Amino acid sequence: MNNKITSSLAKMPMIGLGTWMSTESALYNAVECALQTGYKHIDCAPIYGNQTVIGKALKDSFSKKIITREKLWVTSKLWNSFHAPEDVEDAIKNTLCELKLDYLDLFLIHWPIAFKKEVGLNRTNDSGDFVSLSQVPLTDTWQAMEELVKKGLCAHIGVSNFSISKIQDILKIATIKPYNNQVESHPFFAQDELLEFCNSNDIILTAYAPLGSGAGSALENNENAPNLLENKVICEIANKHHATPAQVALAWQINRRVVVIPKSTNEKRIKENFGALQLKLDIGDIEAIDQLNMNYRYYDGSFFNLTNSPYTVESIWE
Ligand code: A2P
Repeated sequence: MNNKITSSLAKMPMIGLGTWMSTESALYNAVECALQTGYKHIDCAPIYGNQTVIGKALKDSFSKKIITREKLWVTSKLWNSFHAPEDVEDAIKNTLCELKLDYLDLFLIHWPIAFKKEVGLNRTNDSGDFVSLSQVPLTDTWQAMEELVKKGLCAHIGVSNFSISKIQDILKIATIKPYNNQVESHPFFAQDELLEFCNSNDIILTAYAPLGSGAGSALENNENAPNLLENKVICEIANKHHATPAQVALAWQINRRVVVIPKSTNEKRIKENFGALQLKLDIGDIEAIDQLNMNYRYYDGSFFNLTNSPYTVESIWE
């Protein structure tokens, strides 16, 4: 491992700025605002199509001495088209180039789903573009991920959208254990069993969509989706603490040691979300929020349009 990386082996910060669906035009200011606010963690992925802007904002923030590289935690992810072991190193190098960094703090396998390489940094509607996990096993991809740590291209490796059984398969062959599993989680989808499994294996759980995706795409695409930030229990707890519903949802996760990566490009909400670190919920609040769990996913994987592919929604999560 190189010296630069050794100095960054701090623990993963409990709150990071999410960047999925952040438009390029708003993201530069959002990253700078987050770093000025005190965020030390940015969550990225090449499929979000905005890493180049993040890279520019990071470079300028280092120059302006808003933060140093050593104090910052940057996560990115391996896209589905690059699971073949021989493609993994090029994939992280492309991401490093976009982010203008020479190492990542964490690199995750984004989905337990593989595409043909030709799909590139895209989603696909063509079932012929999918490659089955028996053709490109996740364990082979994992071994290639381990090489990245040995080469000093990232400090930690992990997975995203992985179920317990898929992590168990990795653990059987791993010489470097997954550091992190990033999955959807919020009070409507607590992921208790997965959290317990991760805790018992020293794997940090990160919650994406920790605000239930706020007013975002999940709600726009499904008017029946429950709105977390308007939930009565969450709002009452927020009022009691002179906090906001978003802060309550985030504080609940932080209290159970789940890392949160709320996405926002709005300066007020970026600051508001960071304020969740200061919110101490009462035991009664936590018990009331625990009761809201209904195993509700806003993102079930069906947006991959899996018809006739080697994957089903059930096979992704099993
Ligand atoms: P915006 O970027 O305009 O702030 P999640 O991280 O759960 O996917 O949620 C992201 C969505 O929630 C985005 O639409 C974001 O919009 C919105 N959002 C982020 N922070 C807050 C907040 N504190 N209160 C309300 N909505 C928020």
